[in-house]
Amino acid sequence: MKKLCLLGLFVSLASHTVLAATTPAPIENKDAFISNLMKQMTLDEKIGQLRLISIGPEMPREMIRKEIAAGNIGGTFNSITRSENRPMQDAAMRSRLKIPMFFAYDVIHGHRTIFPIPLALASSWDMDAIGRSGRIAAQEAAADSLDITFAPMVDISRDPRWGRTSEGFGEDTYLVSRIAGVMVKAFQGTGANAADSIMASVKHFALYGAVEGGRDYNVVDMSPVKMYQDYLPPYRAAIDAGAGGVMVALNSINGVPATANTWLMNDLLRKEWGFKGLAVSDHGAIFELIKHGVARDGREAAKLAIKAGIDMSMNDTLYGKELPGLLKAGEIEQKDIDNAVREVLAAKYDMGLFKDPYLRIGKAEDDPADTYAESRLHRAEARDVARRSLVLLKNQGDTLPLKKTAKIALVGPLAKAPIDMMGSWAAAGRPAQSVTLFDGMTHALGAQSTLIYARGANITDDKKILDYLNFLNFDAPEVVDDPRPANVLIDEAVKAAKDADVVVAAVGESRGMSHESSSRTDLNIPGNQRELIRALKATGKPLVLVLMNGRPLSILEEKEQADAILETWFSGTEGGNAIADVLFGDYNPSGKLPITVPRSVGQIPTYYNHLSIGRPFTPGKPGNYTSQYFEDTTGPLFPFGYGLSYTQFSLTDMALSSTTLNKTGKLDASVVVKNTGKRDGETVVQLYIQDVTGSMIRPVKELKNFQKVLLKAGEQKVVHFTITEDDLKFYNAQLKYAAEPGKFNVEIGLDSQDVTQQSFELL
Ligand code: NOJ
Repeated sequence: MKKLCLLGLFVSLASHTVLAATTPAPIENKDAFISNLMKQMTLDEKIGQLRLISIGPEMPREMIRKEIAAGNIGGTFNSITRSENRPMQDAAMRSRLKIPMFFAYDVIHGHRTIFPIPLALASSWDMDAIGRSGRIAAQEAAADSLDITFAPMVDISRDPRWGRTSEGFGEDTYLVSRIAGVMVKAFQGTGANAADSIMASVKHFALYGAVEGGRDYNVVDMSPVKMYQDYLPPYRAAIDAGAGGVMVALNSINGVPATANTWLMNDLLRKEWGFKGLAVSDHGAIFELIKHGVARDGREAAKLAIKAGIDMSMNDTLYGKELPGLLKAGEIEQKDIDNAVREVLAAKYDMGLFKDPYLRIGKAEDDPADTYAESRLHRAEARDVARRSLVLLKNQGDTLPLKKTAKIALVGPLAKAPIDMMGSWAAAGRPAQSVTLFDGMTHALGAQSTLIYARGANITDDKKILDYLNFLNFDAPEVVDDPRPANVLIDEAVKAAKDADVVVAAVGESRGMSHESSSRTDLNIPGNQRELIRALKATGKPLVLVLMNGRPLSILEEKEQADAILETWFSGTEGGNAIADVLFGDYNPSGKLPITVPRSVGQIPTYYNHLSIGRPFTPGKPGNYTSQYFEDTTGPLFPFGYGLSYTQFSLTDMALSSTTLNKTGKLDASVVVKNTGKRDGETVVQLYIQDVTGSMIRPVKELKNFQKVLLKAGEQKVVHFTITEDDLKFYNAQLKYAAEPGKFNVEIGLDSQDVTQQSFELL
């Protein structure tokens, strides 16, 4: 997907007195080195460092290099090869002070090898696998001369209408926080200064996932307790794990845009959390302060942003244009600019660029002969991570795994969709290198393959939606449309189904439907695909749905129609092979939902850890003045934490080591988990805790820990969790983080709903 280059690029800065060079401070002493450098910088050179520009194919390289050599640009993003970035670094080395550039990119779920989208990675609940995906992404990106990524994206998303749900790790604070830390450590490896590491820049700070109505870029209005308790911890976890950067969110928070929010950027991030890294605005966000209605003009926008502590401005020219005048007029102070410059230089220092500006660019003679070479991909790792991220939602009558000897009809618009397989934000991934479901099943079946393929339906029959999805793609339409009438496509698929023993239908969303600016008003599979599913069901053949989508879909009708459902999200370069591994039983699925699947869009929000209420719904007692929607069954279609396996697991003998816990003590919660089926398999044992009575209303339950366990057929194991006072703490009305004595329920389950419970008292 291409990015829009919004703004005019070049600002010419008035020249200022050139300062004399002083004796350089030893590079080992970071603070002294940077202070010394700053003493030599002119105002223009300082402001130049605050400018981050996007490099589009249309941009005049010569001109950019001139600007860099003049000290007017601090870093770029979207230029992603060594040969593209080397001349820019050369230009920086020709600048007066030879301050290196850094090169950034959105490496979100892989760089050249595309791993499953973040929502899918979270579905693995497998911290090793997630970490491996991040490490490989960093290695590949660093080998392509990149120094920093705008990731991880750790916005909690509880409204799947929001298209960027696909980019995050789901609805749960604890799970997302765990993953946030893992991803930062994976990107930064032994340190952001290592040649095979990239700096992590956590985003979008803050609360972007809570945009009103799930509509992208909308406002966020949230109580402080909810922020502290539910939405802020993942960013904090990323920062505590050492993230060198933060990208500031496009949304406003309680009436103040994040980009102008001194409470958020200064009081919370820097003072309370002690963040010492680089704060980058999102694309054009400083300029957007005018549209938000908090800045009269560009001058005021620049002032608000620099005062709030936005160090670098992404792709707008306001800092360059306005900061000198604002300084002269005394509306900002020199220290406002200096603080920002110091952070930029410190980040470059931490990336190892002052020691070696070519650390990740390397020597020209070592450049890969072919950037896209197969040998640069990590296919085996991508396949392994992808299959761990697949979630089996239904498997009636053991429809799955499929027999390789069966005659299979493969239908649906996503069966041969290499672009969609990668998901959105697919970095430098190439569709031509991604394995479609058709490819994966064909490889798995080998010479004996009797796969019958029919497209069956387009992604959508709605021309307006199609045009929207293809709007940003200039070279080729992203969503390919078969011009034949819908009934012809369906008839062909029905014929294929009738000729087969079993039907596999790859249906769902195109990747652009779950992307930035792709909010939806409903969560159904598009209507024309639903028609296809109905027609397939009518054939009476066993029906397997392979869902591809970037958000939970409310597949109420399809849940009844299908014999088996595999949620595959968008599973990356090796997606087709990974899905085939599961379909044919070469891998036993072990994924669990990191987000609740609602029955309908009208039920939103459906997150599992909602606050207790005075009139909770009582199952089996309709119309009794309890909290429910009377037209539909209450409760989710599939709960958070849910996912099946080809084997079965039982949980028995849950025990707490004591019925009381001292503030300084420990409690052991244990359960016997047994693989009662006939195949080896993995499952996720989940620990939830409820604070029954508190000074404030507490959630009905909260995930506090989990373990992914592998058990051979018939094997059993005792799983232990340690509970301490820390697990019981929450932010009270005064935003004090403390545990309160009283009763706690402990629940252990293989999903958030089906649990066994015991209680203890915190003394
Ligand atoms: C805008 C997006 O909101 C952000 O996530 C991304 O990092 C930047 N564009 C740069 O591509």
